[in-house]
Amino acid sequence: MSTFEQLGGADGIRAFVDELTVRIDADPVLGPMFAAVDLLLLNQHREQYFAAVLGGPEGYSGRGLREAHASLSLTDDAYDRFLRIVDETLTHLGANATAAIEVRALLERLRLVIVSPGPRA
Ligand code: HEM
Repeated sequence: MSTFEQLGGADGIRAFVDELTVRIDADPVLGPMFAAVDLLLLNQHREQYFAAVLGGPEGYSGRGLREAHASLSLTDDAYDRFLRIVDETLTHLGANATAAIEVRALLERLRLVIVSPGPRA
C-alpha cells in the first residue's frame, strides 16, 4: 500500500494539510511568513504535491519547490520548526506509523531544496 493510501488517500492528505496550516499559522516564527500568501491556492498545491510524491494518482502543477521558497531565505532552524509541526500534526491525526516515517524522510530530502544556501562564497 502506498503512503498516499496509508494516509487515507486524497481526503487524508487534505485533512493533514488543513491541520498543518492551522498549526503553522499559529506559530510565531512561521505564521507571519504566510501573511501575504493566498492560502487556498497554496494548500491546493501542497495537497497536490504531497499526494503526487507519496504515490497518489495525479501530478503536481505548481512551481518547483526551490523556486517557490528561494525568496524566503529559510534557515535550518525554520525548517526544523516546520518538521516539528509536521510530526505533531501526524501524531494528532493518528497517522499510520510507517506513513509518518515516509513523510519525515521525504521532508528531510527536501531540506536541501527549500532551505536557502546563504550567500555564495
Ligand atoms: C519552513 C518551512 C516552509 C516555509 C516557511 C514555507 C513557506 C512557503 C511560502 C510562504 C510559500 C508561498 C510562496 C509564494 O506564493 O510566493 C510556499 C509555497 C509552497 N510550499 Fe512551502 N514552505 C515551507 C516548507 C515547505 C515544504 C517542506 C513543502 C513540501 C511539501 C512545501 C511546499 C510548498 C508548495 C507545494 C508551495 C506552492 C508552490 C506554488 O504555489 O507554486 N513548503 N511555501
